[in-house]
Amino acid sequence: MSSDDGSVERARERMDGLEVPDCTLCPALVESRSRIVDGTGPEDAAVLFVGEGPGAQEDREGEPFVGRSGTVLDDTLRAVSLERDAVRITNCVRCRPPENRDPTTAELEHCRGHLEVEIERVDPDVIVTLGKVPSEHLLGRSVAITKEVGTVEEVRIAGVPRRVLLCLHPAATLYDRSQLGPFEETLEAAASLAGITGEKTDGGQSRLGEF
Ligand code: URA
Repeated sequence: MSSDDGSVERARERMDGLEVPDCTLCPALVESRSRIVDGTGPEDAAVLFVGEGPGAQEDREGEPFVGRSGTVLDDTLRAVSLERDAVRITNCVRCRPPENRDPTTAELEHCRGHLEVEIERVDPDVIVTLGKVPSEHLLGRSVAITKEVGTVEEVRIAGVPRRVLLCLHPAATLYDRSQLGPFEETLEAAASLAGITGEKTDGGQSRLGEF
């Protein structure tokens, strides 16, 4: 599933490296955002995480996954020896939707070129989709995320075949603690697909017990 209507080319022109300096394509998001939240992490990261869109904390700080979901993500990354600084983290849309609603289909499509250019330029070994929205967005089909978590699918993105690993949204582990296991196992699979090996830290899951 890939844009082929010239939106990637326009995004290439609009973007400064991996960043979107300005964008007014989505009127409701221009209204609700404080800023555009670009991806963070190395420009040549082997693992690229894709979330849905910034929440309130991300909108305040200008960085993806810095709220409670971000704490779960960071703790679990550490538990599988994948430090946050070593991976790239981005979102399907870069502006906070009002009242944390899901991005609309039009908003997802408006921002798709930015995501595809980021994928093209980072050229990761594996893309990890955090939750149903990014999974369906990149795969172009409906996804039963709790059933499909941990599966890898090859998808053409901006003309290049990419490995997409389906993962739960970290917030799912806050609502249902039984999801912590599958979440951690998927991050471990991401490390292994990217050829990153390391010692698993003890107590990674117990740190998540704070929630
Ligand atoms: N949830 C997301 O999908 N993205 C963020 O950046 C934060 C929370």
